[in-house]
Amino acid sequence: MLDVTATRSLHSRRFGQDPVIFSAPGRVNLIGEHTDYADGFVMPAAIDFATLAAISPRTDNTIAINSVNFDEQVTYPVDNLPAKASHQWSDYPVGVLSVLREAGVHIPAFSLTLNGDVPIGAGLSSSASIEVASMVAVLSLTSAEIPLPRIAQLCQRAENNFVGASTGIMDQFIACCGAEDHALLLDCRSLEYRLAPIPSHLSLVIANSMVKHSHAGGEYNTRRSEVEEGTALLRSHRPEIKLLRDATPDDLARWGSEMRPDVLKRCRHIVTENIRTVAAADALEAGDLKTLGRLMYEAHASYRDDFEASCPECDILVDLASKEPGVIGARLTGGGFGGCTVNLVENANARDFSAHLREGYLEATGIEADIYLCHASAGVHKITSSEGEAQLAK
Ligand code: GLA
Repeated sequence: MLDVTATRSLHSRRFGQDPVIFSAPGRVNLIGEHTDYADGFVMPAAIDFATLAAISPRTDNTIAINSVNFDEQVTYPVDNLPAKASHQWSDYPVGVLSVLREAGVHIPAFSLTLNGDVPIGAGLSSSASIEVASMVAVLSLTSAEIPLPRIAQLCQRAENNFVGASTGIMDQFIACCGAEDHALLLDCRSLEYRLAPIPSHLSLVIANSMVKHSHAGGEYNTRRSEVEEGTALLRSHRPEIKLLRDATPDDLARWGSEMRPDVLKRCRHIVTENIRTVAAADALEAGDLKTLGRLMYEAHASYRDDFEASCPECDILVDLASKEPGVIGARLTGGGFGGCTVNLVENANARDFSAHLREGYLEATGIEADIYLCHASAGVHKITSSEGEAQLAK
């Protein structure tokens, strides 16, 4: 758990003012990978790793942003913020300021302290949690009233246009709208969502393969352009296909042979993943854990074989998990190419499961995995007392 009191006193000592503090969570995605930017469906849950953003106003036309994690501070005149990314942690809060300003929000002078415990580069959306925490903190000093789904869209824009990662809306949306003990099925086209309770006898166990990934540039953006190539081909035959959300397995059967083989595989992953994700939400709501688990394993296989976004280490983690008692389902979660697996495990088995997974993984790869026993948590909120007691401030 993040230390709210320590963050408050660090801020007060450094900036001489008592801050208001906001917390925005990381996330784990139960199913629905690389479907968000195809206007499809995702089913993430917010987790109890978060970024705290402590903010106080200033009177000297300066913006100062301190990162506790990187032990660094950036300072800018309020009217001369960087126009471009500098490929470091400050791109996230600065990107947020840039999109807010574009959206017509007057940016005041402020001091901001960021302190987070979402593992970085692990596929648990540390970046979205920084963006959302920063945006909500800055907005609290202005008169602008922006609904949470719109805040998610603006944070996504900061990530796309300023940071340079062509990500979808999932991470920012769940950081805004997540709910305690619930997964969230999001329609990434309409932004309508429904919350599905995660049964209280199940634990969310996250296993970090310790293989790092990065979204800015690299494989993520390559996959996205492959998907766009396939979508354009389908659209040339059936103009109603705006994005892969609109495509069916029949469309792929008819026109897939005109695609490059890799492009067809990427599209097949997304088209089938959308179907699996909606079915998984129905299964979770109906308490049909067997179906939910089967869909998670199928989603992993599709991510590995068709989307080719897994890595040998994550495949080992899923394989080991599938042989353990009390495991409902397991799969690689997040953007891919490393990061974490998500495991839905009966509470009674969760501790043994974690120990076995750690041992088996060490034996197979020589790597010590970090295993987190997580809990589905609330979206962004204001911390309302110095004891660090959190309450929804929606
Ligand atoms: C990253 C992106 C999301 C989503 C996932 C893959 O987390 O930020 O928008 O595309 O990858 O599902």
